[in-house]
Amino acid sequence: MALIGTDISFAKVLLTQGDLVAIPTETVYGLAANAFNPEAVTKVFTTKQRPTFDPLIVHTDSLGKIADFVEEIPETAMQLAKQFWPGPFTILLKKKAIVPDLVTAGLETVAVRIPRHPITQSLLKQLDFPLAAPSANPFGYISPTTAQHVDDQLGDKIGYILDGGASTIGVESTIIGFEEGQTLVYRLGGMSVESLEEVIGKVKLMPHSSSNPSAPGMLKSHYAPKKSLILGDIPMLLEKYKHEKLAILSFQETYTSLENSHYLSLKGDLGEAAQNLFSKLRILDNLPVDKIIAELVPDHGLGKAVNDRLKRAAAK
Ligand code: TXA
Ligand code: MG
Repeated sequence: MALIGTDISFAKVLLTQGDLVAIPTETVYGLAANAFNPEAVTKVFTTKQRPTFDPLIVHTDSLGKIADFVEEIPETAMQLAKQFWPGPFTILLKKKAIVPDLVTAGLETVAVRIPRHPITQSLLKQLDFPLAAPSANPFGYISPTTAQHVDDQLGDKIGYILDGGASTIGVESTIIGFEEGQTLVYRLGGMSVESLEEVIGKVKLMPHSSSNPSAPGMLKSHYAPKKSLILGDIPMLLEKYKHEKLAILSFQETYTSLENSHYLSLKGDLGEAAQNLFSKLRILDNLPVDKIIAELVPDHGLGKAVNDRLKRAAAK
């Protein structure tokens, strides 16, 4: 078990001496290290058992501090930054040499985010270095949305978990980047495509790949429970697997009369569905069942991110 608390000064001491601290954000909890200290960043990769070809997101609290470690912020990026930061939103920018290659897995761009969670905002304000932080879960597993989730899996490996309550967005940040004048969405997430497009017009979605390590954000099988998860029409899946013990994850409360059945949102609210997704998947993964069956949610707004995570959780 790790120490869990709300002591920002203690978190600062640990991070400054090169240790790891789990931090709350509005999307998911992160496993943070001083982004400018390669030894500290190495601990992130070993603790998560994350392959070093998968780059990290760098978190800070102001555009001024970002200017210290990126070459430039293009006009479109600036428009989005002004609109959506602090928030569940990450931008790929050309890095300066001060960002260790380990953080970016040798890429020329660094992923940058200003998170909105007040505890982490206040921590970042007190630091004179940014924090490299992936989601605080073992590589490939479901991301944590509470301090308890972090403790359950990484508790014996980290010194301190800053407790900021349950993450209000519940899915990771939306990642965008720029290539040949085009704005690309590298990962769907807590900022909807519709809201991005209201500010900058049409954006393009990057396709997933399970085989291309040069686009690591695109790994298809990710965010996955240990149990096999099958996506489809729930009544059909109930019939198909009627001889097995099943857990059910539905969008609304349709199947609550059945055993081991959970839903994402009573009212059919997509934001609430996103907020509940990972904690529900953890609950289902720990039930005494053979399989989890689940359905997609309406594919707009945050529903797109929920469906993306469900599809990745189902991917082999
Ligand atoms: O909401 C979030 O984004 C959370 C919180 C803690 O900020 N963080 C998070 O980090 O989800 P992580 O490491 O689990 O996911 C970051 C993703 C990875 O898929 C990585 O491949 C991609 O960002 N990424 C990072 N830097 C990149 C780069 N320069 N080019 C392309 N993809 C990049
Ligand atoms: Mg992750």
